[in-house]
Amino acid sequence: MNKIISYISDTELENEFYRDVRDRYIDQKFLYQGEDSVDGYYNLEHEHVEEVEGGSDYSEYTKVIEKLLVKNTRSAFISLGCGNASIEKNALKQALSNGYSITYVGVDTSLGMLEEAKKNLEDLPIDKVFLQIDMIDDRFKEKIAAATQECDNRIFAFIGGTLANVNQTNIADSMYNILEKNDYLWVDVRIRPDTNMETNMKIFNRYERYVYDGTERWWFIPLEKIGVPFTSGKMNMKMVYEHSVGALHFMFYFTFTEKVVVHVDGNTIHFLPNEEVKLQTIRVYHPETLKNFFKEHEFNLVLQEIDGEDGQFIFKK
Ligand SMILES: C[S@@+](CC[C@H](N)C(=O)[O-])C[C@H]1O[C@@H](n2cnc3c(N)ncnc32)[C@H](O)[C@@H]1O
Repeated sequence: MNKIISYISDTELENEFYRDVRDRYIDQKFLYQGEDSVDGYYNLEHEHVEEVEGGSDYSEYTKVIEKLLVKNTRSAFISLGCGNASIEKNALKQALSNGYSITYVGVDTSLGMLEEAKKNLEDLPIDKVFLQIDMIDDRFKEKIAAATQECDNRIFAFIGGTLANVNQTNIADSMYNILEKNDYLWVDVRIRPDTNMETNMKIFNRYERYVYDGTERWWFIPLEKIGVPFTSGKMNMKMVYEHSVGALHFMFYFTFTEKVVVHVDGNTIHFLPNEEVKLQTIRVYHPETLKNFFKEHEFNLVLQEIDGEDGQFIFKK
């Protein structure tokens, strides 16, 4: 098994995107559609990881994965928002050479990402399947059950910070409703070591640069695709404390400085000066508050690995 199965049509995605444009609130899945967006994301990601950590071999994933696998049983590794699957590849390879049985399920809304993931894992001799589906789609539970029916347990993994970009309460409840007794939920997040103002300011300054260091051009791609000129406004960032998960929550908006009229899907959309379109959200978590958030959603912490600003938290129902 090594194929991509699509449960979303281009028309469904397009309709949702146009609705988001009208709402001025672009779901983060639209940042990763199409070749420019896929390539652009990984070019930027390498730069950011280089900047913050001086590069990474992603060995933290190798450390965690073997603590969850059990010899002589088959585990499903379900990568939620798998992207090109490059950052978990080494951990999977290592676990395989140490004699564990794994079925890999890559889940992503972006067909471009799934094609890259399939290519990337081509030489990994394990069962693999790639599902193009929204992880909060009502059909997800049933489709993932079908893809993992041969497995004894399942690891639902948010690798590479994907948790930080999505609606927190929706994802926690969705995961609660999908997980079975033996399954694990693995969240890989960026953490802040403490809650003091100086640390918060340092983190604020790091993300504030994204509005002018080239990152903003990648976030702008969805608007560019519908004919909005980049020069018709500017990118800006807002920060709020999201107390429920203990996160500094950074939101990136494109603010129009001039009137722009575009025609999409047979409709005319008027963007007026000072209107904002939300394009991206990023969160940096306080570990204890995040753990408590999952505890209140009736997940038990079974393992944690903290290395500098990287936090791995593993829960079971
Ligand atoms: C921050 S990227 C991380 C990709 C990969 N895990 C990595 O670290 O390289 C987030 C990924 O999640 C996917 N994604 C976003 N929203 C999604 C959703 N609702 N359902 C499934 N995938 C989604 C995006 O297409 C993108 O590939």
